[in-house]
Amino acid sequence: MSPSVDNPIAVVSTLVEKYADTPGGLMPLLHELQATFGQIPRDQVSTIASGMGLSRAEVHGVIGFYHDFKYERRGQTTIHVCRAEACQAMGSRKLEAHVKDRLGIDFGETTADGRFSLEPVYCLGNCACSPSIRMGDDIHARVDAKRLDHLLDKY
Ligand code: FES
Repeated sequence: MSPSVDNPIAVVSTLVEKYADTPGGLMPLLHELQATFGQIPRDQVSTIASGMGLSRAEVHGVIGFYHDFKYERRGQTTIHVCRAEACQAMGSRKLEAHVKDRLGIDFGETTADGRFSLEPVYCLGNCACSPSIRMGDDIHARVDAKRLDHLLDKY
């Protein structure tokens, strides 16, 4: 029987065991923890570090370096709004203000209902179709306020 998410200690122990002998196993371990909990359980960093043969500082360093890993709980869907040059030229700042207003959160925050988190991103490789956003794994092009509202309702 697989451990329940209600039992984070068991989940972390199982995943540490799964990746302990894998070279570079910390990254897939952290990705799986982030996907399972919607965050990295900060109180489990010691277990992760000792299980992976690393120091706590090394684990904290990796978590802090990569934007994919968060100690705070993430929403079901993360919205990345592109703030790079091409998207800015096509109105991404206005779009950014609209999404912040609509969700009532700033970058780095999650809605109270846990549905959405909001993050900036600096180019999604979709500059020709600016302004662009990513919702979860999907990139959306030429997004304006109306289209964004439609996407939020859909998600
Ligand atoms: S500048 Fe926004 S996708 Fe490249």
